[in-house]
Amino acid sequence: MAIKTTLKMGEPLLFKSAEPVAAFNTPALHSLVTDLRDTMTALNGAGLAAPQIGVSLQVVIFSVGNNPRYPDVEAVPETVLINPTLTVIDDAQDSAWEGCLSVPGMRGLVPRYTHLRYQGWDQYGNAIDRTVSGFHARVVQHEVDHLWGILYPMRIKDMRDFGYTDVLFPNLSVTDE
Ligand code: NI
Repeated sequence: MAIKTTLKMGEPLLFKSAEPVAAFNTPALHSLVTDLRDTMTALNGAGLAAPQIGVSLQVVIFSVGNNPRYPDVEAVPETVLINPTLTVIDDAQDSAWEGCLSVPGMRGLVPRYTHLRYQGWDQYGNAIDRTVSGFHARVVQHEVDHLWGILYPMRIKDMRDFGYTDVLFPNLSVTDE
């Protein structure tokens, strides 16, 4: 267990597709999940994907409780999601501001599908199958994008909606990015 260095945009590994996990409930997988959780918690992230700590495997973690980086959003239970598949429920999309621990100090306005079904496994090999909406759906799409080598700036429609957090949101007390 350890707080890992988070790779920043520009690292080639962040633009690679990650490999599926082949074996569940192994010491190596539990160690990876612990590293992801420790790092996400230490940095007040809403989520973290294994490639962001240099491991090119299809493992993400996300959790939104009382997060100072995202003070006004609904809670999302801590979830470890492995080898995920996403299914869009309908065409509805909405746009909201996103940040990313691999793009520190910046925010961008990103359109995402509003309603989403996601399936996969936890680290013990238990199946996960949820249909979600809103911020929960947004976090899942952001994190799973990391597994396909996509960072949120690549989803921004108008690059004028991309900038430094302290300029865009001068009243937001963000001290951890
Ligand atoms: Ni991210």
